Amino acid sequence: MKRINFGIIGLGRIGIIHLSNISNRIPEAQVIAVADANEQNISGNLTAQQVKYKFTDFHQLLATTEVDAVVIATPTNTHAEIILAAAQAKKAIFCERPIDLSIEKTKIALKSVRDNNVKLMIGFNRRFNPNCYKIYSMINAQKIGRIHLVKTTSRETSIPSKKYLESSGGIFLDMSIQDLDMCRFMMGREVESVFALADRLWDPSLASISDYDTALVTLTFEGGGFAVIDNSRKSDYGFDHRMEIFGDKGMLEMQNELVETHRYHNREGVQGSGPVDFFNERYILSYARELRDFCSSILSPNRPISVGGTDALIALEMAIAAKISCHEKRQVHMSEFRLKH
Ligand SMILES: NC(=O)c1ccc[n+]([C@@H]2O[C@H](COP(=O)([O-])OP(=O)(O)OC[C@H]3O[C@@H](n4cnc5c(N)ncnc54)[C@H](O)[C@@H]3O)[C@@H](O)[C@H]2O)c1
Repeated sequence: MKRINFGIIGLGRIGIIHLSNISNRIPEAQVIAVADANEQNISGNLTAQQVKYKFTDFHQLLATTEVDAVVIATPTNTHAEIILAAAQAKKAIFCERPIDLSIEKTKIALKSVRDNNVKLMIGFNRRFNPNCYKIYSMINAQKIGRIHLVKTTSRETSIPSKKYLESSGGIFLDMSIQDLDMCRFMMGREVESVFALADRLWDPSLASISDYDTALVTLTFEGGGFAVIDNSRKSDYGFDHRMEIFGDKGMLEMQNELVETHRYHNREGVQGSGPVDFFNERYILSYARELRDFCSSILSPNRPISVGGTDALIALEMAIAAKISCHEKRQVHMSEFRLKH
């Protein structure tokens, strides 16, 4: 069987992870081309990798007929333009989240995907984390009955650079969006309203780019039920990602992954290791599993994409609703929001 030939566009923090996963963990695929606007990111990252084509202009990668599929791992404000061009070049597309910071540009990109009849998957990788997936399966097997509440905590280890943050869309569109998607995924119902608060508790200088380092989001769902999300860009004790789902027949929880699992007990108490340090360690398997899932839907044309354009659009709408709620200090109803946009 022919292997799927991938081109990776953007060789930064996440692009390198995708490059390594496709090269080492996905036998049905290989990376034959990379493109990064910064040549140093290509030469600096490809020492041990065999990649046939290297470009600084992504259009050249898209013009390479041997490339079957692309991974878009450039800054968020470039995704929509690259999706449009990739769809026209008839490539299957895996794009990092979100598609864009604006609903209008997201819809234009999705139309181009539909018009060109190509596959598009969005990188909501947490859905593919083995623990999240197990929890999702147990919910669907009715192990905890009807869900009343989803709680997620996502605290990262360090605040990204201002350069990254400037093109990221801010904490709600860049960070909370993963939790928003996760709450909707686990609840299995659509969000009815959003209320959000945010502050700069670690770094007051984020005011210069109108961003925050700490956020709280409360969601209500159609048909009842709530979700609560707490986000921090920085945590002093490691990458803190936990989740709890409370239903009328039980509760499911996901704990942190620890650097080491041994514990030391003595008369003063119990000592153990803290959580792993960053997303590349915590979610390494999720990134590989999401791309493997994408490859399966390329190889089986009738298999639907697991996380598609509609999921991306709804997650973006929720994140923008959170941003509006925070700025206008009010609850935002998704119906009102959708009418407005
Ligand atoms: N799924 C996740 O867990 C996760 C984690 C981190 C980032 N992301 C998303 O991935 C995307 C990239 O984030 P990152 O942290 O890797 O960013 P980064 O800044 O580390 O890397 C971006 C790379 O894209 C290159 N680039 C910029 N414009 C380009 C263009 N027009 N053509 C080709 N290359 C270009 C840059 O030179 C850089 O190497 C963002 O959309 C972000 O939201 C997702």
